[in-house]
Amino acid sequence: MGDPETGSHVNGSKRQLVKSLNRQKKPLFQSWFQLLLLLCLVLFVLCYTLSSSYVPRWDFPEQFKRFLYQIHQVHLTTQPSTVPSTVPSTVAPTGIHYHQAYPHNYHFIMDNTEVCKTKNPFLVLMVPVAPNDVAARDAIRQTWANNSLVQGKVVLTLFMLGLSNRDNAEQLQEKLKQENLQHSDLIQSDFMDSYLNLTIKTMVIMDWLATHCTTAAYAMKIDSDMFLNIDNLVTMLQKPDIPKQNYLTGMLMWNRPVVRSKNSKWYVPEEMYPDPIYPTYTLGMGYVFSNDLPAEFVAISKLIKPFNIEDAYIGICMKKLGLAPTSPPDPSQFRAYNTGYNRCEYSKTITYILGSAQQLVQYWTDLKKPGPSC
Ligand SMILES: *[C@@H]1O[C@H](CO)[C@@H](O)[C@H](O)[C@H]1NC(C)=O
Ligand SMILES: *[C@@H]1O[C@H](CO)[C@@H](O)[C@H](O)[C@H]1NC(C)=O
Repeated sequence: MGDPETGSHVNGSKRQLVKSLNRQKKPLFQSWFQLLLLLCLVLFVLCYTLSSSYVPRWDFPEQFKRFLYQIHQVHLTTQPSTVPSTVPSTVAPTGIHYHQAYPHNYHFIMDNTEVCKTKNPFLVLMVPVAPNDVAARDAIRQTWANNSLVQGKVVLTLFMLGLSNRDNAEQLQEKLKQENLQHSDLIQSDFMDSYLNLTIKTMVIMDWLATHCTTAAYAMKIDSDMFLNIDNLVTMLQKPDIPKQNYLTGMLMWNRPVVRSKNSKWYVPEEMYPDPIYPTYTLGMGYVFSNDLPAEFVAISKLIKPFNIEDAYIGICMKKLGLAPTSPPDPSQFRAYNTGYNRCEYSKTITYILGSAQQLVQYWTDLKKPGPSC
């Protein structure tokens, strides 16, 4: 609290403490100081052992998975969302507000029809983003979307948005049109853009890829709060053993229990998805797939009841298609946790979850500085 009286009281007692310390004889002061030093040392050692045991490693699979699950939740809460946390419990049981994920129920407002024909990309990065989040889009345009040619391969980045439900929706729509005139990188569909509609957003991405960009070899769904080492991704996709069809990879989630607690943001009622465990899926922050899959996802989604967990929904589509996600060649390259910027580490990974658009620009600028990364 910013109460000035509290402040002066604290200052007063601090002053008294200083006075009483000054009054102490010297030997006592020294032992105080030594005690403090010892305490600091103990704290430091404690923190160090704790933090190093929390750093997930492949030799601790259970702990690793638990850690990831937590991160998954942290990640989801950082989604730009205006939905209050009570919404799932009031809305979900009736199912009324969940809409068919089948994307042909929706229509494109902006579709950049020709962009794939003119650019002929090898890889398309599809970024779901809130309509008003121009800061995230600009940061991405300056960083991993800046170069359309990566190791001689054409990479195209597009942003996927729905309709804003805010009061200033009309003004915002006008701004979006201008933004698209300038950058030609917005794809917009007429569903309402909200947290609970993320599965619709993903399926509209799949629909766009299947109808407007069939010539691309690979695509990635990547969230707008991500760091992406695009060079490493293109390198990975060019490895000879990477399948060209029926391929889905990213950070794999195994045996994830369905959240049945009604107060949770990830609550899914049994009528939407009866099994207690999700099939193996790839974490929604960023998953990569061969571009034959979008048409398959769109077709199979007609048969699968939609629910709001988009990454698990894609996992269910895969299972219904008789397919399963594949581990990436180096699983440590798809990271959900972020323990702070480290140039060497960032030069080796593919994905990282970030806290802000500024972080993306900062880290990217540092990574691209000349000089060795490690
Ligand atoms: C984008 O890439 C070009 C080189 O292709 C470079 O000259 C330019 O500085 C980059 N822009 C930003 C904002 O980093
Ligand atoms: C999802 O989108 C549909 C179609 O635009 C809309 O009617 C519905 O209200 C949206 N649901 C939520 C929870 O935002």
